[in-house]
Amino acid sequence: LEFRRVLFRSQSCCKATSLFREEEVTGKRVNEELNCKLEGISRMEKQIKTIGVLTSGGDAPGMNAAVRAVVRTGLHKGFRMIGIQRGYNGLLNGECFEMNLRSVSNIISAGGTILYTARCLEFKTKEGQDKGAEKCRELGIDALVVIGGDGSYRGARALAHRGIPMIGLPGTIDNDIGCTDYTIGYDTAMNTALEMIDKLRDTTQSHDRCSVVEVMGRNAGYIALNVAIASGAMAVLLPEKEFDMQRDILDKIAETQKTGKRHFIIIVAEGVGHAQEIANEIQARTGIDSRATILGHVQRGGSPTLRDRVNASAMGYQAVCLLEQGKYNRIVGMKGEKLVDYPVDEALEMTKGLDPVLVDVCNTISIRSEERRVG
Ligand code: ADP
Ligand code: F6P
Repeated sequence: LEFRRVLFRSQSCCKATSLFREEEVTGKRVNEELNCKLEGISRMEKQIKTIGVLTSGGDAPGMNAAVRAVVRTGLHKGFRMIGIQRGYNGLLNGECFEMNLRSVSNIISAGGTILYTARCLEFKTKEGQDKGAEKCRELGIDALVVIGGDGSYRGARALAHRGIPMIGLPGTIDNDIGCTDYTIGYDTAMNTALEMIDKLRDTTQSHDRCSVVEVMGRNAGYIALNVAIASGAMAVLLPEKEFDMQRDILDKIAETQKTGKRHFIIIVAEGVGHAQEIANEIQARTGIDSRATILGHVQRGGSPTLRDRVNASAMGYQAVCLLEQGKYNRIVGMKGEKLVDYPVDEALEMTKGLDPVLVDVCNTISIRSEERRVG
C-alpha cells in the first residue's frame, strides 16, 4: 500500500504559539482544554499515517457500521488502518490487527461489534494512560477513533494529552451524550424494545393484567419515554423525574379503570427502581394481577435500523475527514439531521435533557378518564 502523506501547515503551529503566549501574558493556569489543543497542534508537525479504531463501553447496534465507515474512508484517503480489539484493554495488551477493505465486509447489518468491547479499570489510572500512549507509539498508531460514550472519551482525551490525537463517535443505546441529539444504537434499541412491548400487550390484554416493563437507561429516560409513547403505555417512570407511586401509578390506574379498561402497561427506566417490586406493590394495592418483564440486554443486540446504519456511516466518514483536515480531539455528533463536532473538553461539559414537550405528550395521551377529557 502506498500511503498518502498528510502534511500539516506551519500556520496551525503559529496558532498554537500565539495561544501559548496569550496564556503566559494573562498568567492564567493552562486548562485542560488548552493543553489538549496544544498537544493536538504540536502533533501537526508530524504526519498521520496510521489510524487506530476501537469500540469501548457498552456495545450498541450500528457500531459495526461506524467501524466499517472509519476503515473504508481511511483506506480511501490513503491511511493505514489498525483495529484494536476489546477497547482500552486490547490497546494495553496490543490486541491489534491491520484492517483492509475485506476486514469490514458483511458487517453493516450485524449487531454487536466485530472489534469487541470492554471496560478497562487500568485505563482510568495515570500509569494505564501512559502505557496506552506508549503502546500507540509502539504499534505505529498516530491517531485514534474511539466509538463509545463519555467514559470512553475521557480515556481518549487522556491519550490526546499524551500526544495521540483522537476523534470520538457517540456509540451507546442510552442516547445520554450531551453534545449530540442522537447516538449510534439508540434507534435500534428503541425499536427492539417496542417490538417486545407490543408482544407483551397481547398477553397482558388477554389476561386483564398489569405489565411493568423495565427498559434500559441507568441514568437516562430517552428509551423509556419514547417507547412509552410509541407503545401506548399508561404510565412511564423516568430517572429524570421524581415519581410517586400513589399519584403516578395507583391514581392513574383507578382513573383509567372507570373507562372500562382492564389491562395496563407501565414502562420503567432501569435507573428508577426494580420492576418486580413495582409490580408486587401494584398487585398488593389494587388486586390487579401484575407481572414484571425486564427487557435487559436484548435491547443492545440485533441488526441496526436504517437510521443507525446511515448515521453511523456518516459519523465514521466524518471522523476520518476531521483527522485528515488536522481537526483533532473532537467529538462528532448530530444536531437534528446535521453532523456536528465539538472539542472534547467542551463536549464533555455539555448536557441535555428530555424534551419537555414529549413528556407532556406522553402524560396527556395516556390519561383515559372521560371526566378529564370533557372538563
Ligand atoms: P462509556 O464509554 O459508554 O461511557 P464507560 O464509562 O464504561 O462507558 O467507559 C468505558 C471505558 O473508558 C472504561 O472502562 C475505561 O477504560 C475508560 N474510561 C472511563 N472513564 C475514564 C476516565 N475518567 N479516564 C480514563 N479512562 C476512562
Ligand atoms: O449500554 C448502556 C447500558 O445498556 C445502560 O443502559 C446499562 O445501565 C448498562 O449499559 C449496562 O451495561 P453492562 O451490563 O454491560 O454493564
